[in-house]
Amino acid sequence: MKICKTPKEMQHFRATLSGSVGFVPTMGALHEGHIALIKRSVAENDHTIVSIFVNPTQFLEGEDLDAYPRKIEADLKICELAGVDALFLPTPLMMYENDELAIMAPKVKGFILEGASRPGHFDGVLQVVLKLFSITTPKRAYFGKKDAQQLFMIENMVKHLFLPIMIVPCEIVREPDGLALSSRNVYLSTTQRKDALLLSKSLKKATKLIIEGERDAVKIKTMMEEVLSPTKLEYVEIVDRAFNLLEKVETKDTIILVAARVGTTRLIDNMWV
Ligand code: PAJ
Repeated sequence: MKICKTPKEMQHFRATLSGSVGFVPTMGALHEGHIALIKRSVAENDHTIVSIFVNPTQFLEGEDLDAYPRKIEADLKICELAGVDALFLPTPLMMYENDELAIMAPKVKGFILEGASRPGHFDGVLQVVLKLFSITTPKRAYFGKKDAQQLFMIENMVKHLFLPIMIVPCEIVREPDGLALSSRNVYLSTTQRKDALLLSKSLKKATKLIIEGERDAVKIKTMMEEVLSPTKLEYVEIVDRAFNLLEKVETKDTIILVAARVGTTRLIDNMWV
């Protein structure tokens, strides 16, 4: 497996690859959720590039940029075993200069939900993903539905900028008890993990209500809020696939989203119904 530390090195290596290239951008501390994306890319492409970069521009002031888990040795082994061709490991200095051109997420859908809780977060995500796409020029790029709004923002960017890249959405990987895998789960104590489970529990309950025929978004959200009361809830929301807020649930077109803090750890989860 080739390890590239600068954009130039990565671009040179990319130029030697013929056939299809799949790309999996990550911030590292790889878990089974990331591994599922990597395995899918390896299965569907001639070559796979993974990036590990804790991107400072998508963290807000006071967020966990410095504390964000870093496990580079374990990540290297995971990528090697999964059959990754190249790992891109840049530093912030390699990726950014002072007085950069700004990328701004769409002013409405980039500033609701995650974008309202973390204003400017998606500007940073789109900025880095666009840079990573330019460096790796993949045919396909793999993203988890776990970050549903991020996935939507990236699909939109590809559409708006006519980028010749296929975005491949991948299912959420969960622990056997339902907890969605996240690099941030390592912050949780044993008791906090129990409260963290309430996110997926509330989503399961909402899905059950919908299967039983409930369509009223307010009723579904109220029930979820009750389940989530031991957490510091940021939002529960019901949207369609284009992230329009819904009053009535449409099956096959709906995403139920939740964001909550357990202790100081911010967790998100969602279910597509
Ligand atoms: P990160 O949080 O490391 O996630 C990298 C990719 O893994 C994302 O597409 C995310 O949705 C996916 N992922 C995380 N947990 C998952 C799970 N439980 N099941 C399935 N997929 C999962 O998302 C980012 O990094 C960054 O914002 C990035 C896109 C790399 C830009 O910096």
